Amino acid sequence: MLNRKIEEALNDQFNFEMYSANIYMSMAAYFDSINLTGLAGWMKIQYQEEMFHTMKFYDFINDRGGRVVMTALDAPPTDWATPLAAFENALAHERIVTGRINNMVTLAMEEKDHATVNFLQWFVAEQVEEESSVDAVIQKLKLMADAPGGLFMLDRELGQRVFTPPSAGE
Ligand code: FEO
Repeated sequence: MLNRKIEEALNDQFNFEMYSANIYMSMAAYFDSINLTGLAGWMKIQYQEEMFHTMKFYDFINDRGGRVVMTALDAPPTDWATPLAAFENALAHERIVTGRINNMVTLAMEEKDHATVNFLQWFVAEQVEEESSVDAVIQKLKLMADAPGGLFMLDRELGQRVFTPPSAGE
């Protein structure tokens, strides 16, 4: 059984993961609007990852006898000055998510809710991966700042990304 504070925090993050998904779909739309379809594809995979995160919170809240409650979400940003600006926005967002997950771990430890602490460990590891994968793209975009032809190559490379759902139990 979840205590009220933990249930609210889990629900808050459930909604925030869905907001994260919307941000990445908005970034996909931005990239498609400037014909960078590979970068758009990368963002659509990111959208799927965020919906996977969303459903992990959904299932955990239910498994613990809680009640999932959806709330209104802020509208995501819709335009960025450059591809680099969009990815820098993505990294800033992921750092916010990491901070939120860390705060939830602290709360769950204070509340002695070991099941929630254990559940959140998957997200602690996932956030390392999330920040790293976005930062890798940022570094490439910075490297090619003076060679716009590189953007064409990067668009092709990122367009190869596929969504691989983590296996059961992860
Ligand atoms: Fe669900 Fe990208 O953090």
